[in-house]
Amino acid sequence: MEKNQYRPETNAVRIQTEKTWQMEHSTPLFLTSSFTYDNAEEMRATFADETDNNIYTRFSNPNVDEFVHKVCALEGAEAGYATASGMSAVFASFMALMNAGDHLVSASSIFGSTHTVITKFLPKWGIEYSYFDINKPETVEALIRPNTKMIFVETPSNPGLEIVDMSLLAQIANKHNIILNVDNCFATPVLQRPIADGAHIVTHSATKWMDGQGRVLGGVVVGRKDLIKEIYSFCRSTGPAMSPFNAWVLSKSLETLHIRMARHSESALTLAKALEGNPNITWVKYPMLESHPQYAIAKKQMSGGGGIVCFELKGGLQSGTRFLDALKMLTLTANLGDSRSIASHPASTTHAKLTDAERAKVGITPGMIRISVGLENVQDILEDILQALENSK
Ligand SMILES: Cc1ncc(COP(=O)(O)O)c(C=O)c1O
Repeated sequence: MEKNQYRPETNAVRIQTEKTWQMEHSTPLFLTSSFTYDNAEEMRATFADETDNNIYTRFSNPNVDEFVHKVCALEGAEAGYATASGMSAVFASFMALMNAGDHLVSASSIFGSTHTVITKFLPKWGIEYSYFDINKPETVEALIRPNTKMIFVETPSNPGLEIVDMSLLAQIANKHNIILNVDNCFATPVLQRPIADGAHIVTHSATKWMDGQGRVLGGVVVGRKDLIKEIYSFCRSTGPAMSPFNAWVLSKSLETLHIRMARHSESALTLAKALEGNPNITWVKYPMLESHPQYAIAKKQMSGGGGIVCFELKGGLQSGTRFLDALKMLTLTANLGDSRSIASHPASTTHAKLTDAERAKVGITPGMIRISVGLENVQDILEDILQALENSK
């Protein structure tokens, strides 16, 4: 493997698994379930961890290793493990690092499936949880108990774009000897590096901006070596491994992550500024707008705002569905972080089963629209949104 020896964007391009005898320029796809040995002694030594040879693709694979090495270089992490989806990365980080009788403190503004894992499954295995309001990190310390093992946050959160000061949470975590686990899916390591701010592990849905073209599912967890060792041990036996094909796609995607995130952020800021003050909108939320409640924290810990912009339609819930129907170019789909711009209305779709009060708790209002700003010309994105706003009043 090429060493982590350059600046982050160069590492994302240049880290590469060892060349085969063909001396290929681009990494080939290693579609193999297992790996072979010349003799019994080599096989014994490999199983005894005395060599770097691969054994079985559920444990490791050259494509998956290349992807993980790149993410580690980008995040400034010691080690990592890649999984089949973002949810399996989040799940493995909980299951490997907590035991029955432990307690998790999590922000309540988190992705819906993560909320389900925390509230429905962790208690089933004897792991307790407490939620805090992400806008009130000063309440976290009071929630910590002798059995608290981990603090979990998404920043910015999905879908409400709420932001929390990671270095403040790291101080609390270190004081109490607790793991700080940050889902860095929305910002990506290009815009924010949680480990530099004190996080101990970082989880990702690689399905989103890392892939960036809506093709494959993937997840990755990186961080402190001793913690990743536990996660690796859990995953090696339980089997949520990333497929070599997905790793091959995702590793190639990381080569363009820096330029893509710069363009997504630039277009999203242009869009957010253009929508502020629109007569059909109550508010616009974007990390790099001065009107964002945590703008100062965003400026401190992020180098760009990312590709998600949220706004509230004046007409509430009904306007939300009318707005989606009026769009001509933006896609209606259950994904984000794509080269194609996407619109979603959480109150009538992903969060339709919640009451208004429950939605408010996770940062979702009735007429809230989430735009994942793609790589099209920003004027085309803006014009489609403006005409849909006019036609959905
Ligand atoms: C912040 C965040 N974390 C985790 C996930 C789960 O990722 P996946 O869909 O790859 O399992 C998502 C998916 O939208 C997400 O937005």
